[in-house]
Amino acid sequence: MKGLILSGGKGTRLRPLTYTGAKQLVPVANKPILWYSVASLVAAGITDIGIVVSPETGGEIEAKTGKGDRFGARLTYILQPSPSGLAHAVKTARSFLQDEAFAMYLGDNLIQDGLGDFIQTFQTKALDALILLKSVPNPSAFGVAEVDNQGRVLHLVEKPVLPPSNLALVGVYLFSPQIHTAINHIHPSARGELEITDAIQQLIDTDQTVEAQILNGWWLDTGKKDDLLEANRLILDEYLGASAISGTVDDQSQISGRVTLGSGSTLVNCTIRGPVIIGHHCRLENCFVGAYSSIGDDVTLTDIEIDHSVVLQGARIEGIRQRIVDSLIGQRARLTTAPLRPRALRFLIGDDSQIELT
Ligand code: TTP
Repeated sequence: MKGLILSGGKGTRLRPLTYTGAKQLVPVANKPILWYSVASLVAAGITDIGIVVSPETGGEIEAKTGKGDRFGARLTYILQPSPSGLAHAVKTARSFLQDEAFAMYLGDNLIQDGLGDFIQTFQTKALDALILLKSVPNPSAFGVAEVDNQGRVLHLVEKPVLPPSNLALVGVYLFSPQIHTAINHIHPSARGELEITDAIQQLIDTDQTVEAQILNGWWLDTGKKDDLLEANRLILDEYLGASAISGTVDDQSQISGRVTLGSGSTLVNCTIRGPVIIGHHCRLENCFVGAYSSIGDDVTLTDIEIDHSVVLQGARIEGIRQRIVDSLIGQRARLTTAPLRPRALRFLIGDDSQIELT
């Protein structure tokens, strides 16, 4: 079985970060989101993995992720010339996939459950597609499935006004090569994309076997800020090991809970309350860093309090008196203030940025 990770797309929902980089490289607990999907496939025994990329961000993804040695996998990068839909991405990967079954993972999705049991069901029952579903409170925002009491999928509908169930399609799918025939029979949707839901519906309509399993653990689509913060919280909660302090910590600093401090980083008079991960070559002085924060490499934090936030590489935050919460700070961003009481706010903010003074 092969693996296919979709890492192209437009990333409009995560602007402005996606103006300068791939959303699949935005870190969760200081590791690109994409790497979790590679690790998940490898853990299920799938090591021949294709990664679909866009012309804009493909080079960056390949340079950062490499040929797969770090995962024990062989990674093949497949260029999708335009973001013309998930089924179009599969079509683009046709020569890589050949006539093998494959597990497809959306490169900005994370699921807690391992894939092993799903793959076993798919193979034992010789299915043409196995989709994963999760019950959600707002099904109208997702692809939704109607399933009979034996797990057979009857009907799929994309973002329905009147949802037939509350079961949303999770971004992980298992397919037999029949999916290629189905894709050849579908047409672009109203938004101009070849939809994977239409291809799966085509399988159902031509009496191929399509079943669903309900996901027990969490599922996150990290394409939006709040989901990304939630993914950061869950990953820090579950995977951050015992404290590992490689940097320098002065006597005035206090560390509690699980905290990782990278090499070359310095803490001066700071309180860090884990789970927190701080990258390499950071300098933190007179700071409070609260639980569920991830601080990337080369970050400088001075005289601030920050909580439940993700700060990307090279950012500098100084002297902000209010606590910074639930925030996503982009690479090399600067947030500073006048030493005394500031009387004005002066901004240079990228397109599609969001500032909330609460
Ligand atoms: P989406 O998040 O559905 O689409 P998008 O990346 O265009 O994002 P946005 O809605 O914010 O504009 O895509 C899910 C995953 O699939 C994501 O990792 C990007 C990838 N993808 C492709 O590889 N090719 C495509 O044609 C599309 C639409 C998405």
